[in-house]
Parts: sequence; C-alpha cells; structure tokens
Amino acid sequence: MCGIIGIVGTHSVQERLIDSLKRLEYRGYDSAGVAGVTDGRVVRRRAAGKIRALEDVLAESPLEATVGIGHTRWATHGAPTTRNAHPQEAGRVTLVHNGIIENYAELREALKARGRTFESDTDTEVIASLIDFELSSGKPPLEALKAALDQLTGAYAIGVLIDGEDSLVMGARKGSPLVVGYGDGEMFIGSDALAVGPFTSRIAYLEEGDYVAIDHNQAQIFNEAGHRVERDVRQVPASAALVEKGNYRHFMEKEIHDQPDACQHTLSAYIDPTTGKVTAPGGVDLAAVTRIQIVACGTASYAGAIGRYLFESLAGLPCDVEVASEFRYRQPAMTPGTLAIAVSQSGETADTLAALRWCKAQGLMTAAVVNVHESTMAREADVLFPTHAGPEIGVASTKAFTSQVAALIALAVAAAAARGRIDAVEEARISKLLMEAPRLIAEATQLEDDIRALAPDLARARDILYLGRGAMYPLALEGALKLKEISYIHAEGYAAGELKHGPIALIEEATPVIVIAPTDPLFEKTLSNMSEVAARGGPIVLITDAQGARHAPPGARVIVGPSCDPLLAPLVYAPPIQLLAYYVAVQKGADVDQPRNLAKSVTVE
Ligand code: G6P
Repeated sequence: MCGIIGIVGTHSVQERLIDSLKRLEYRGYDSAGVAGVTDGRVVRRRAAGKIRALEDVLAESPLEATVGIGHTRWATHGAPTTRNAHPQEAGRVTLVHNGIIENYAELREALKARGRTFESDTDTEVIASLIDFELSSGKPPLEALKAALDQLTGAYAIGVLIDGEDSLVMGARKGSPLVVGYGDGEMFIGSDALAVGPFTSRIAYLEEGDYVAIDHNQAQIFNEAGHRVERDVRQVPASAALVEKGNYRHFMEKEIHDQPDACQHTLSAYIDPTTGKVTAPGGVDLAAVTRIQIVACGTASYAGAIGRYLFESLAGLPCDVEVASEFRYRQPAMTPGTLAIAVSQSGETADTLAALRWCKAQGLMTAAVVNVHESTMAREADVLFPTHAGPEIGVASTKAFTSQVAALIALAVAAAAARGRIDAVEEARISKLLMEAPRLIAEATQLEDDIRALAPDLARARDILYLGRGAMYPLALEGALKLKEISYIHAEGYAAGELKHGPIALIEEATPVIVIAPTDPLFEKTLSNMSEVAARGGPIVLITDAQGARHAPPGARVIVGPSCDPLLAPLVYAPPIQLLAYYVAVQKGADVDQPRNLAKSVTVE
C-alpha cells in the first residue's frame, strides 16, 4: 500500500507534494519521490528511506514546477532503493503507482521483445512503458492510458505525468482508492481525502475501474468502459479526512471495500514478489517450531481457525485454536517448541492479552498478529506479525479479519518452506497466487448489487443457518457472527457435515440456509448437504463460483463469486458474507457501525 498525490497547480508544488506525502506516510515509507513539469519537461527527485531523505535531495536540487506528482512507497516488487522508488519513468511517461500488477512479468517480456529496456525491478515501470508504447503509436494521452489499463491484471491506483503536457495529470483506480480534489484554478488527485485535505475540501471518489484527466479547472472522469461519467463532489472537512466514509454510507461498507488494499499491504510484509520468497517477519525460525497455539476472541478467532487449516495442510504443523477466555483459565498442557500466536485487531483485548501473557510465562515463544502496531500485544509478544488494514472504525470487523487471514496464510506458506514441505518453485507459485488475492477480493466486492437484492427476504427471518466445509466452515461461523452482530438476527454457523446431527431439525420454509461453497475438493460433499436442506423445504442461498453455480439445487438463490484457488477462497469469499450481513442490517434500519451492546475493543473480561 503506497500513497499517491498529484497536483495541477498555479504556484510551486514542491512543498505541497511533500506536505501531502507526510500525511500519506502511514501507507508506506521505505522510499519516496516527486516529479514535476518544468519548461515542458518532466523531472523527478527520489530517495530511499523516509520522506526526510527526499527533503534533503530537494534542498540540493529543488523541483521548480507547478504541476507534479508524488509517492511514498511500501515496497512490493523490488527492494526499497532509489532506483526502485517512484515516480518510475519510461520515454515520455512518469508514473506513481499503488498496488500490484499481476501480469507484469509477461508484459515486461512482451515489451522487451519490442525493444524496450527496463531500469528497475518494479511492476510500476511496466505500466509507464506500456503507456509510452501506446503514446508512441500516435494515441493521445487519455487513449494511451486507457489502452494500457486494458492490458493490466491486478489491483492498482496510479498517477501519471506526460512529457510535453504542461497542465495534465492523469489517474486511474481499480481495487485501490483514488480521489479527485477540486480547488480554485487548481486540481488534485490523491490516495485519500487526507492527501488533498490541506488544499481542498471538495472531493470526488473515483469508482472501480475509473480513470481521470485533470487540468487547472476540471476533471474528466471515465468509467472502465471508456464512457465519460460524473462522480459526486462532496465537502469533506480536513479534520474528518482520516476517518471519512467517502462515497459510502457506513464505515463498515467502506472497510469492506478497503480490503483489496488492506490485504495487499499485509501480504507485502510477508512476500517478496520478485523472488517469490515468503518469510515470517522478526526472524522467527519456523523450522524449529513443533506446534502452533492460536489464541483470539470473536472474529479474530475465526481468522485463527482458517489459519489452522493451512498450518496443518500446507506446513504439516500441528495447530490448535482456542478462544482466549477459555484458554486462559483451563491450564492447557503446552509442549516445548510451541509457538503461541495471539490474533487481534486492536492488540488490547483483555482475554487475548491474558492468554498471551500466560503463554509467555510458560516460557513459550510468543507472536502477535496485530493491526495496531503500538498496542500492548504488539509490544509484549516476542515477535510482531503485522497486519496492515489501516484504522478500522466499524465495530464489526471486516478488513482486519481478511488481513489476519492473509497474514496467517502467508505464515503457513513460510512455515511450509522453512520445514521443507514445499520447494522454492512451489513457494514461488503460491506467492504468485497470493498476489492475485487483492484483485479477486475487489471482484468479490462487486457482487454488492446481487447481494443487496437478497436482503429484503433475509431481513424477515428469525433464524439463519450458515454452512461450510474446510476453511469455509470458519467463514460460515464468521458469516453468522457478522449477521448476529449488526442485524440482530439469530444465526449459527455449522460445519456442513454436522447438519444431519442436529441443526437439520431447524430446517423449514422460514429458516434460510446460506451455503458458502466455492468449487474445491469438498464441493460434492457440501452439495449433498445442500440437497438435504432443499428436500426439507429450506430456502437456500448458495455463494459459489461459476462452476459451482451449475450444480445449484432448483429454487436456490445463487451468488456467483470469482473462481479462485481454494487457498484464496477464505479471502475472496469473505466480502460476500460481510456484504450480506451489511445489507440485511441496512434493510432492518440497524445502526451498522455501532451495533447495540458491542464494543470495538474489549479491554475487560
Ligand atoms: C470485539 C469486537 C469484535 C472483535 C473482538 C476481538 O468483540 O466487537 O469485532 O473480533 O472484539 O477484538 P480484537 O481487537 O482482539 O481483534
């Protein structure tokens, strides 16, 4: 997750770019750079390290420009060196980028075959080169941008300057956010409202697939199909910018849509996409670990339960998961060599913290998968396994959950590699797969309209069952929890195979059953369970992929999500179940962001 700013201004942009980058530093800070148009030519200044290092460079050679772009980087492809810092350049194009271009290696080879050369290890330079290639074939800037975007696979936001274009900044977003700021004779683009907050409070949020050209007075916005569109311009007070809802009605909805970025940022802390290596932060020797004990509460415990499937199946590491409030008092028998992992968004949950301290007191090595990196758990655990979801405001956890799942999947892959369960080729294949997650999550959030259409019927139910197998079982538990938390409808998650051992007695016309079953080796089994429900007249909502949809029982309502490797399914199928809970709660008029009786961080027993 990187930060982007772009300004078409009437006076010098250098200080303003830096001011904005400092506000964006929370999105990444291992290198930074700016570029501006001076006498019709684009020049850039870059530095490895924090923004202070870039300021030193600018003190030596200032940027004399009124039009410019800036970037603060969180390295994904390529080490955090000056050479890999953004803006990246190719021919007439200078570009900043947040996100991952999954097909960059193929694009790079194709461009090389056309005689193009590359200076950096980044996927970003490939976008610049593609746009330049399109420009050199005679296309005007916006057409060249569109032609290049059409070739990209991945989740991204970009800002672009073109040599010879004195008052033009272009931008695009897919999966990662980008806003347009409307000033007085000046226009801006930025990663969020905070980035443009010091210059304007009039902001439009680009939608998925939009691209834009700004000049001094206007923004021309186009949708993914290339049609000119208008996006609402709203007033966002600067003080509210950090915690604003953007185009969304509730924080929860915004945070559901933040997930491609949150997941990508989190995965970047574990995966080097250039080498395909996956490592545990903090230098933990996972080869020396003999067992894993996960402790957590609520949603975090379900993320842990998904992690367990992968620690065992991928890495062959015995793994237990327990809610911290039970674990801490039952004198569990721990074996030496156990790595205790606390999973927590806040890092402050009283029961989880107590369980972590108990493990530490037993002499176990402790780790914390935590989103708030200055929290007590982050400080007290031997190692921090960070998630990078950014601030989560909605009480019902969404992006923190998928970030925890992403971190745990990455850790399971790192453990598998460290323990020799997979070779370097397999490790690289899996890390490439993981890098597809942000795009697939973004696709899954696009199911919003289909899911909203289910809400009126589901909102009338008194009880709802959720079914899943394998890693979809903890996701079923999480789906039921989300619904309970915000819509106050009684819901239970069950392992699909357990249906016949009790819950089947509840099935009747008024009890909807949500089945989470993307195609995987267990799909056939879940299908049989679904037939058992159908035979008893239970209304079914099947959340699956295109292949699974072909097997839906007659009368079932089907939500068709992206096809993906089963390893990614807990990430990709989380947004649909979150959106389902969200729209049912909205339908019922509930207070989505602050549900009754709940607290975001529970620091008491
Ligand atoms: C509260 C929140 C839940 C959260 C749980 C654990 O109950 O309402 O959304 O899952 O605490 O919080 P943590 O900060 O430890 O992840």
